[in-house]
Amino acid sequence: MSIAILYEYAETDELGIRMTAEEMGVDLVYIPFRKIAVSIGDDGYSFRSKGRDFFNRIEGVNSVLNRTQSKNRRMYAASLFEALGRYVVNPLSVEYVCFSKFRTLVEFWRRNIRIPKTVYIPCDAYDKTVTGIEIRNEEDIASLIQMNLGAGNVVLKPDGGTHGKDVRLAKDLDSLTEMLSTTSPSIINPLGFVAQEFVEKWFYDLRIIVYKVRGKPPFCYPTALARAGFKDFRTNTYLGNMVFGVELPAEVREASIRGAKAVGGESEAWLLAMDGMFNIGEDRDVDDEYVKAELEKLVPPFDKVKQVKQNKMKNRDFPAWSRMLENAYQDYMDTEAYANVRSVISESMERCKDSVIFHETNSCPEFWEQTRIIAGINVAVPLIECAQSVDGWSYYQRIKDY
Ligand SMILES: Nc1ncnc2c1ncn2[C@@H]1O[C@H](COP(=O)(O)OP(=O)(O)O)[C@@H](O)[C@H]1O
Ligand SMILES: [Mg+2]
Repeated sequence: MSIAILYEYAETDELGIRMTAEEMGVDLVYIPFRKIAVSIGDDGYSFRSKGRDFFNRIEGVNSVLNRTQSKNRRMYAASLFEALGRYVVNPLSVEYVCFSKFRTLVEFWRRNIRIPKTVYIPCDAYDKTVTGIEIRNEEDIASLIQMNLGAGNVVLKPDGGTHGKDVRLAKDLDSLTEMLSTTSPSIINPLGFVAQEFVEKWFYDLRIIVYKVRGKPPFCYPTALARAGFKDFRTNTYLGNMVFGVELPAEVREASIRGAKAVGGESEAWLLAMDGMFNIGEDRDVDDEYVKAELEKLVPPFDKVKQVKQNKMKNRDFPAWSRMLENAYQDYMDTEAYANVRSVISESMERCKDSVIFHETNSCPEFWEQTRIIAGINVAVPLIECAQSVDGWSYYQRIKDY
């Protein structure tokens, strides 16, 4: 039996999975989950694009790597393929928890895994009654948030967001009320507000990869990606922040496994990216000016990395482009400033190692450009191993027969 990969556009990570699968000698069945009609009815099911029928390909598949990018579409894809008896990496139950920041935090909280104190208020800023009366709720929502989190800094987030989009920091009641009043329900912010205690994480947070293959305990990689910068409290790489490869203290790895298990649940195989930070506060053994100056020195080599990322050669010759990117990152990593910032992060982690806080889990992490090169983790390998471990697994075969 074979493994399918569902994708929307063949982006860097999907090209990377393709290249890795070839190197591993694994045949993948490619299903472009954007341009096909999925039909279900009394006469069975079909998968068809305008030019191609995917039915036979899907019939031969037992497990599915779900790389559909939009969270909603990923859940649709997972529910459909599970209904067809295929094992999906990640399973629907995992996607469901990861879709919502609040649901993820509830799973952590009930297992005593550290989280930032978080408030969910199931109410929109603006309501209209059946009789047409307009109701503004932002002042009530703001005061409920402050009753729970105090009058200090508050982080407001869209529950289903990604890439730091619309994650905002309110410093007082006025700015909080203003932010609430300019937020409407949307596909990433479907129901009400999520507000969170601001964690004084200094200048970095972590992206930690944990995965589980069938029949084995979960594994947390010993290295992780630290995303760092002072420009914005959001340290997402998407916002141009710098990245550092760091060795994780054993305590942080253990906590990551506990966190990932909380999301992975009883599922046999999954791969998750755990986003964590430390409440460092003033516990800093060097001053900010030193770190800022070192980060500034890294701007030129990091700009070169960014230039390679934009290089159109990626689509013509992906392996050659990947090598170019590796070289650019290597030049950046070979600098003294890189080593200096890296050791500041490592020392600070060592001091806080017992108190890592998780704020979200990502079920479809980007990896080819940063995690692979900087942290040395080619996530395509464990992803394929997860799918292989459940390929032909009889339980799913039984569901299929049923
Ligand atoms: N409670 C918080 N305290 C401090 N910084 C935070 C907090 N929550 C998020 N951040 C910062 O904002 C970034 C984006 O928030 P996150 O919850 O990860 O949303 P997204 O899914 O959009 O990445 C994080 O990577 C982190 O750097
Ligand atoms: Mg994040």
